[in-house]
Amino acid sequence: MTTFKLFSNLFGVNCLSFNCFPRIGNLSTLSGFRFYSNQLAKRPFDFDEDEQSFPCHVPIMCNELVELFNPQDGQLFIDMTFGSGGHSKALLASGKDIKIIGMDRDPLAYKYAHRLAEKTNGQVIPLLAKFSQLPGLLDKHGIQKGSIQGIIMDLGASAMQMADPSRGFSFNSEGPLDMRMDGKYCNVSITADDVINSLDVKDLTKIFKIYGCEKLAAKYANAIIDCRVMMKRISSTIELANLIDSLASGHVIEDVERDRTSATRVFQGLRIFVNNELNELNYGLKKMRDYLFRDDKVTQLYKNNLDNMKAIKDEIRASTSGKLAVISYNRLEDTLTKRHLQGTDIDNPLTHQPPQLFNSRLHKPTDQQMERIVFKKWFSLSKIASSQQEIEQKSLTYPAKLRVAIRVL
Ligand SMILES: C[S@@+](CC[C@H](N)C(=O)[O-])C[C@H]1O[C@@H](n2cnc3c(N)ncnc32)[C@H](O)[C@@H]1O
Repeated sequence: MTTFKLFSNLFGVNCLSFNCFPRIGNLSTLSGFRFYSNQLAKRPFDFDEDEQSFPCHVPIMCNELVELFNPQDGQLFIDMTFGSGGHSKALLASGKDIKIIGMDRDPLAYKYAHRLAEKTNGQVIPLLAKFSQLPGLLDKHGIQKGSIQGIIMDLGASAMQMADPSRGFSFNSEGPLDMRMDGKYCNVSITADDVINSLDVKDLTKIFKIYGCEKLAAKYANAIIDCRVMMKRISSTIELANLIDSLASGHVIEDVERDRTSATRVFQGLRIFVNNELNELNYGLKKMRDYLFRDDKVTQLYKNNLDNMKAIKDEIRASTSGKLAVISYNRLEDTLTKRHLQGTDIDNPLTHQPPQLFNSRLHKPTDQQMERIVFKKWFSLSKIASSQQEIEQKSLTYPAKLRVAIRVL
């Protein structure tokens, strides 16, 4: 998918690309990764139990997730987007003797994971890392491929990130244009300020258009450049939001009549770019499948019944193979997830035809290439959209989608 590759070289730092391997950072801060002997923690989960200085993230679709994962004693899960631990707590509340690696790239979330580890007597294993760093870390800490029963990816930013003005995620409060999910932990990464005040009009347009899905991208990019020429820097969230708001409506506006749709899209585009979110997601989806448990009986059944999948649907659903759950909050995240789960070629435009290569009479595909298109690696179990109530409560501009799939290969 060429659109996701566009920005791989803009800054030289955002260099993950769909075709190349990521750089693994220095993880000397990773002291919390160890297993504890565990005791069963049977307590109801409570999203507000942590200190009040940061509002806890209220997770969505917890019940659906627990039902689909159906945790059993002795199983290991990874919550790859721990946040304040809502989904992990929901899994723990099943009362089963499970362990959860609670991972997040945000040091604040890491702190929350530590707290939960203490409260649950080590059932939670805190980990500070990004998706792209996880496979290396798991290997290093002796987590075998095929040993994980469930992976959760609840994408986007957390309520804590949005609520803290100093992190610059929200246009509702005055703050620096930062938007780094890693916070100061990764001080080599670029900020939204760097993007807004350094990139040229062409690149800004691409970011707003492709990552923000904003039709007026070029107009906003041109205005930002003009503003830089006339007033030097745009350095706060409110300055940027006011500029976008005034351009969107064509006149200076009062608070009561503001339509923040354009500002929402521009901020989304910036956040996705600054955190390299789609490349991270792509890499995470690609690499983490190997770590899920694979029930070989089901793999065999699947391979033998490719022409009649309906007949074996129930067996696959009931199998003990590991499951992946992804909750996405925008079209880009959901499309990328869907293409992984369906086994569509990520590097080419979406098509229901087999890749060009396999249409050519001159080219005979190798067995390996044939296997790649014939055998899908995932079997989709369900796709659930957020309820109207959840959309309103969380002011979502796009209905959140939960996709759950089971490893079959
Ligand atoms: C929507 S929040 C998750 C909230 C969480 N499910 C809860 O119940 O509190 C998304 C979290 O994912 C983290 N995140 C996003 N991209 C990440 C990545 N590539 N690697 C690690 N963490 C990531 C963010 O820092 C944020 O804390």
